[in-house]
Amino acid sequence: MAYASCHYIFFIVSIFPFCVLPQNDVAVAMGSILTANESSIPWLSSSGDFAFGFQHLQENDMFLLSVWYDKIPDKTVAWYADSPSNPVPRGSTVKLEAQTGLVLRDPRGQVLWRPHGINAGEVNHGLMNNSGNFILMASNYTWLWETFRFATDTILPLQKLLYDSVLNSTQSETNFSQGRFYLRFLNDGNLVLRLRSLPNSGTNNDTEYYNSQTSDPLNSSDSAYQVIFNSNGSLYMLKRNNQTIQLGPLSIPPASENYYRATLDFDGVFTYYSHPKTFTGNSSWTILWAVPKDICADMDAAQGTGACGSNNICSLVDRKPICQCLKGYSLLDPNDKYGSCMPNPCLEEPKKPKDRETVLLVQSVFLGGSLFLNLLFIGVGFQVIYQKRRSKFHLKNDVVEKNLCCFSYKELAEATNDFKEELGRGSFGIVYKGYIKMNSRNKIVAVKKLDRVTQDSEKEFLAEVNTIGQTNHKYLVRLLGLCYENQHRLLVYEYMPNGTLASFLFCNPRPSWDVRTSIAIGIARGLVYLHEECTSQIIHCDIKPQNILLDDYFSARISDFGLAKLLLINQSQTLTNIRGTKGYVAPEWFRNSQITAKVDVYSFGVLLLEIISCRRSVMDVEIGDGGKAILTDWVWDCFEQERLDCLVENDLDALEDKMKLVRFVMIGIWCIQEDPSLRPTMRKVSHVLEGIVDVMVPPCPSLVRYTS
Ligand SMILES: *[C@@H]1O[C@H](CO)[C@@H](O)[C@H](O)[C@H]1NC(C)=O
Ligand SMILES: *[C@@H]1O[C@H](CO)[C@@H](O)[C@H](O)[C@H]1NC(C)=O
Ligand SMILES: *[C@@H]1O[C@H](CO)[C@@H](O)[C@H](O)[C@H]1NC(C)=O
Ligand SMILES: *[C@@H]1O[C@H](CO)[C@@H](O)[C@H](O)[C@H]1NC(C)=O
Ligand SMILES: *[C@@H]1O[C@H](CO)[C@@H](O)[C@H](O)[C@H]1NC(C)=O
Ligand SMILES: *[C@@H]1O[C@H](CO)[C@@H](O)[C@H](O)[C@H]1NC(C)=O
Ligand SMILES: *[C@@H]1O[C@H](CO)[C@@H](O)[C@H](O)[C@H]1NC(C)=O
Ligand SMILES: *[C@@H]1O[C@H](CO)[C@@H](O)[C@H](O)[C@H]1NC(C)=O
Ligand SMILES: *[C@@H]1O[C@H](CO)[C@@H](O)[C@H](O)[C@H]1NC(C)=O
Ligand SMILES: *[C@@H]1O[C@H](CO)[C@@H](O)[C@H](O)[C@H]1NC(C)=O
Repeated sequence: MAYASCHYIFFIVSIFPFCVLPQNDVAVAMGSILTANESSIPWLSSSGDFAFGFQHLQENDMFLLSVWYDKIPDKTVAWYADSPSNPVPRGSTVKLEAQTGLVLRDPRGQVLWRPHGINAGEVNHGLMNNSGNFILMASNYTWLWETFRFATDTILPLQKLLYDSVLNSTQSETNFSQGRFYLRFLNDGNLVLRLRSLPNSGTNNDTEYYNSQTSDPLNSSDSAYQVIFNSNGSLYMLKRNNQTIQLGPLSIPPASENYYRATLDFDGVFTYYSHPKTFTGNSSWTILWAVPKDICADMDAAQGTGACGSNNICSLVDRKPICQCLKGYSLLDPNDKYGSCMPNPCLEEPKKPKDRETVLLVQSVFLGGSLFLNLLFIGVGFQVIYQKRRSKFHLKNDVVEKNLCCFSYKELAEATNDFKEELGRGSFGIVYKGYIKMNSRNKIVAVKKLDRVTQDSEKEFLAEVNTIGQTNHKYLVRLLGLCYENQHRLLVYEYMPNGTLASFLFCNPRPSWDVRTSIAIGIARGLVYLHEECTSQIIHCDIKPQNILLDDYFSARISDFGLAKLLLINQSQTLTNIRGTKGYVAPEWFRNSQITAKVDVYSFGVLLLEIISCRRSVMDVEIGDGGKAILTDWVWDCFEQERLDCLVENDLDALEDKMKLVRFVMIGIWCIQEDPSLRPTMRKVSHVLEGIVDVMVPPCPSLVRYTS
């Protein structure tokens, strides 16, 4: 029998003074060999709890040289030979040899792996210890090599982590290739979890998402120097002054009846598990403790994309991250659920049900109700608007709104690492990325350093910022806080991970029609709010794709609103200084006529035409082909000649959605009418975009038409 030929029984007299009974330990004799196939019988520990040998990986019919829990159905791996060639093909062998100790060979006899640091002829026998440690021993019983000293992703009771010990995560539960995360016990006493930077990213930019904070830089005797996992299952850190710091769970089920392990799981969570030794029916590992507490939030703050790849949304279930692609996106690598997701270019994206419900509600109220009810409804509507207007915010001296945080300049300098990482430059100043602790959570923020604030009165600055601070809308970038200190004026906004609409819109391939149209509707709704629904009207004055940001869900968020006023004394009066950006500014800016919310309608119209056509409003004359250099003129030409297909080129989704395309183009042309009084309000625009009301055929936008 293969089993007998590979083993012989070896007795070691126990050294415990009160226990004179010899303990049976199954030594593995020199010359013992295992072959990787289903009938391969592993080298077991005397209790049978642990096995060393080839574990069959069903998925790809390979074999993993490993140590595993042999008495549980999962056969959970506790250690594996850390070699790129592991797992190995059927027919590979592992042999205990006098010359080399232990050798893993492929079926042709090529050496694939062997333990480091063993001198020829030293090894006398091997031993699968009952604690899960596979040991190579000298004839004098000195331990020459042990799996406990070369931990892979798991530590077990009686195993220690010393300075510079590393656990590497695996690629997945079944793929034992090296994964993205590692745990390291730094020699300053901190235990850290990090995300490995991509190999081609050059320098070591690993992102830390957990730190045990157990280092005292001023007093090394007060710093942790060992991580101990004791036989009772206690996982803690030991300081040189013999104080301990609890790491694992406080309450642990009895050691006699349970297995324990702490594994850096493939999802980046360092997890403490227990499993009953005896059980009936199905039993599995129970999570007793894990760090970080919320990997989705902590990774997000540290890295920006979270424990999941880009466009892959992270949520926490039973302390573990679950990743779910954004709607309309699918996994880049279908086997890597935690990887990045890509948009499905050919599939129709599902509509957001919520938006649809509102549309239906409004429609049914207006269409379904009696005349009396409609009047009543409108009456109530006016009442609500009136009430809202009356409750206009009054600033009490220089009190800052409760929902805004006040930061010191020093805090913001620290948060942004001295204004190091620039996110963008706008007309009001430079925006930097920063990390701030708010409500005991790390949050990524965008810090805008205003460089052209002419209003030096602190009171007026605060009044304006408070107005912005009170805005809270789904399609606006939220202001979180501010800093006003000496000459410094800074605003802290929530961070938008998907950048600006400009970078999203003008790239190849063009974003899908449905995403584009819902972005347009979002911007329109945000402007309705600014113009009509917030406590005091806010005219944006600089609507352009660079000022529209995209949130996690690629939903539009208007930024920089309310800032125009910080630079001007009285917006509704004639301006000396033209605000806005070439290509988007309404003609009345040049005419010294009154500035109203209609300037935003104009800019929105240009933006809408850009969203439809994925073209910039003004192109380089050299690059722009005949007649297309000025987007608004070109759109009008296409519209007049009934060639809307030119606008969207071969965008099949848009061409098939002809009704919506026509509606969008027509309302866009209404918005860019030179005469402000002809332009609709943003509310009307929003209703047309949403399909609630119809739109008439627009006239030519220019009063005087130049033909090229
Ligand atoms: C497994 O390998 C052993 C040793 O080489 C061999 O005797 C046995 O026939 C193999 N079993 C199968 C099912 O291939
Ligand atoms: C098994 O490992 C434990 C813990 O390291 C140790 O105390 C024990 O002596 C080992 N058994 C043998 C037979 O070496
Ligand atoms: C035990 O044997 C090893 C290897 O032969 C040797 O390095 C070591 O010094 C020996 N230890 C003792 C205590 O004899
Ligand atoms: C962990 O991964 C690093 C980087 O690939 C490697 O150098 C190290 O040997 C690995 N450590 C373990 C214990 O597997
Ligand atoms: C395991 O993951 C690595 C890295 O992603 C990949 O190259 C390899 O093909 C995977 N192995 C299997 C069996 O899927
Ligand atoms: C790595 O970090 C350095 C310093 O923070 C930075 O200059 C560099 O751009 C980073 N590299 C990558 C690839 O992120
Ligand atoms: C370092 O810490 C230990 C114990 O925490 C304390 O007894 C000792 O006085 C400290 N030494 C210094 C220099 O602070
Ligand atoms: C384990 O628990 C037992 C009973 O509570 C206790 O006597 C023993 O000292 C503990 N062992 C360790 C290493 O903490
Ligand atoms: C810590 O404990 C060890 C073993 O019990 C002892 O030898 C050592 O003196 C202790 N150190 C301190 C600083 O108390
Ligand atoms: C055990 O698990 C299997 C598969 O997950 C399931 O089909 C079966 O019903 C479970 N049995 C019990 C007793 O829970």
